[in-house]
Formats: sequence, C-alpha cells, structure tokens
Amino acid sequence: MTAHVSVRGDVAVLVPAAGMGVRLGPGGPKALRLLGGEPLLVHAVRRLALAPSVGCIVVAAPADAVSFVAELLEPVAPVTVVPGGATRQASVAAALAAVPDGFDIVLVHDAARALTPPELVESVAAAVRGGHGAVIPVLPVVDTIKQVSDSGSVVATVDRSSLRAVQTPQGFRREVLEKAHSAAIDEHTDDAGMAERIGEPVHTVPGSEAALKITRPFDLAVASLLL
Ligand code: C5P
Repeated sequence: MTAHVSVRGDVAVLVPAAGMGVRLGPGGPKALRLLGGEPLLVHAVRRLALAPSVGCIVVAAPADAVSFVAELLEPVAPVTVVPGGATRQASVAAALAAVPDGFDIVLVHDAARALTPPELVESVAAAVRGGHGAVIPVLPVVDTIKQVSDSGSVVATVDRSSLRAVQTPQGFRREVLEKAHSAAIDEHTDDAGMAERIGEPVHTVPGSEAALKITRPFDLAVASLLL
C-alpha cells in the first residue's frame, strides 16, 4: 500500500515522532522502526491521510532526520516536517507553530500508535466540531489496579470502574491547544493533561484496540499480527 493520499479536510494533525524509543530496545528513533517492512511513521501518516477530515499533517521528526523523514513521507501524503524538541511536549509545540492559519481544529497523534484507524480520527474530529474544546479517545481498564509503595507492598486497590486508558489522537479547538501549551510550566505526558490544567473540560469518546501504543518489543509483535 504505497499510493499517495491527497488530504483535503478542515483538521490539522500534529504527529510527534522525535522520540528515541529507548523502551523498544536499540535501533534508532521509534517512529522509524519497521513494522511489516515500513516505518511506524509511514503507517501512522497513511491512516491519518485516509481520514476525510484531515487537511494538514505536521510531523515533528528527530532534528537530524528532518529531510530523511520528508523524503520518506513524500510518496505517502503531503506533510510538513519540522525538527522535534527534547521532550514530547516540545515536539508538539514545534509542530503546532507550523500549522497554517485556517485550521481551527487540531489533533495530536503519536506516531507510536501506528495502526490507529481513520474512523477514530473522524470520531475525535467530529466531537471537537460538535462543540467540545478538548476530546480524548479512551478504553476501559481491564486489569485490577493496585497502588503499590516504593517497597513493593500494596497500599490500596483502586476502583477501576471510573478509570480509563487514554489514547491518541487527542483533539482540540486550536485556541485551547495553543493556550494550554503557552501556559504549561511542567511536563505532561499528554496534551489533554495540559488542557485540564487550564480548566478546559475534556470530553471522552470510545477508543480503539487497534490504536495501541507501540512501546515495547511485545507491542511490536502484537502490531505485526494485527497488520
Ligand atoms: O516516549 P513516548 O512513548 O511517550 O512518546 C510518545 C510519542 O512522542 C512518540 O511518537 C515519540 O516519537 C514522540 N516524542 C517526540 N519528541 C520527544 C519524545 C517523544 O516527538 N522528544
């Protein structure tokens, strides 16, 4: 599947892809690791471009791989590639700064969630378009969750009925994401956390098992089977 997809919608998607992927073991930036013979980033961008709402894709690449990533994605879809930062948050901020005027809905999507279906992108975009300032896809937590002390003893069993595992893409009205980033003083692992910090209500939509985050070698094996 190498056909070039032309993007045309009203939504911009930022793809932080500048992480080194240390937990995946040695082998270079995580977004460039191969899955079924193609880099994770190629899988992720292709699925984003297939979502009808998407009209702009900005990728934050490792600073020393910007032109390599631009050439890699050229046959896949039209993308802008910018140098990422030292943290995920800095990479998202760099990509956000490159979004042209006219895109009032901005999604943030980890390259590591390479098999995210276009339908999930549409569902998040639709919820923002429907009036929510910040939207995240979530899944119920299936394992029993326990709080554990530094010494390894169980402190408490957490009621999992109100817990959710959070995925990407996370969607925002552009001004909400811009305000959240300019107000951020500490590091957050996701953008919705920054929106929460500025008091923005965060809406949830059902996530997708296929949007799993490829972090460890086991995840790569699962993703290969899904592919
Ligand atoms: O490290 P983690 O798995 O949380 O990274 C999530 C996403 O953020 C990945 O797609 C990774 O490439 C990206 N990232 C980035 N810039 C960094 C660190 C992570 O774009 N400095």
